[in-house]
Amino acid sequence: MLSFEDPIAPAASATPSKRISASDKRVINGTTDVNQLVPFAHKWAWDKYLAQCANHWMPQEVNMQRDIEQWKTGQLTEDEMRIVKRNLGFFTTADSLAANNIVLGTYRQITSPECRQFLLRQAFDEAIHTHAYQYIVESLGLDEGEVFGAYQEVASIRDKDEFLIPFIDTLCDPAFKTGTLENDQRLLKSLIVFACIMEGLFFYVGFVQILALGRQNKMTGAAEQYQYILRDESMHCNFGIDMINQIKLENPALWTEPFKAELNALFQRAVELEYAYAEDTMPRGVLGLNAAMFKEYLRFIANRRMQQIGLEPLFPGVTNPFPWMSEMIDLKKEKNFFETRVTEYQTGGALSWD
Ligand SMILES: [Fe+2]
Ligand SMILES: [Fe+2]
Repeated sequence: MLSFEDPIAPAASATPSKRISASDKRVINGTTDVNQLVPFAHKWAWDKYLAQCANHWMPQEVNMQRDIEQWKTGQLTEDEMRIVKRNLGFFTTADSLAANNIVLGTYRQITSPECRQFLLRQAFDEAIHTHAYQYIVESLGLDEGEVFGAYQEVASIRDKDEFLIPFIDTLCDPAFKTGTLENDQRLLKSLIVFACIMEGLFFYVGFVQILALGRQNKMTGAAEQYQYILRDESMHCNFGIDMINQIKLENPALWTEPFKAELNALFQRAVELEYAYAEDTMPRGVLGLNAAMFKEYLRFIANRRMQQIGLEPLFPGVTNPFPWMSEMIDLKKEKNFFETRVTEYQTGGALSWD
């Protein structure tokens, strides 16, 4: 049997003659050969990999001419320009953090080859997203130092990243290894922070803002790219949630009361941080939006994420003030939302808000 150095995978030679049984496969701490994709045990991960491949797109296929004209001929207000710059300031570096988290952290801890296959696709998606933000920065001729330095210089962005970085560092520490209750909980917590809070909450003020611009026929090239990114992130978030729930199913001892209390506190803090970002990016009402509307929206999203992983929602009774966002995720229904050319990579795959 072939063997190679994989820091996490069990030694392939441990069971040289035994063929893999799907029932032996585990998302973490598995003992089956990670190089054998089938038989599938986590078919949902494979299905999401296929769906995400069908969502493929490239930034440079989106025409930015109209955005450039609007940006350079004073057709945007100061507040609208602030939103665009703050957005790019957060996202240009956030997607690099996301990519590092997958490639240098999560991937090596996951022993399901189906899940690894999705993570490989997800890592490429994150590269495309960084590419998209860079393409917008370059098209508009923005100050690169200002945009790429924002995560260190703008408090509302830096605070979000400082919240995330310890969880990313946990996974990227070369010495970190699962296999104890404590470390398995640390891994699970980092996965929850990454999928449910970073991709599932910290991106959403920015998504709403840029898509709201697009809905008013402003920056439609950027908005079209954000719409593809929103679709990708929605898939990443849903994959992360499926993986978290599968880990819970395979390792019920991890889901203790103190652990749940710790997660509740993280969701509470995350909503505060994202709300502070909303206030900083919208000092006044703009595009029919204002920071106060986001208080309700962020609580709505946090509840949703918590329910999806089996936690009691922190904010009972809140509703979604932006129902149009659900439609934005579904490109099949709204192909010409911004009346720009829409690429037609999408050939299958379920897209839904849930
Ligand atoms: Fe991304
Ligand atoms: Fe992502």
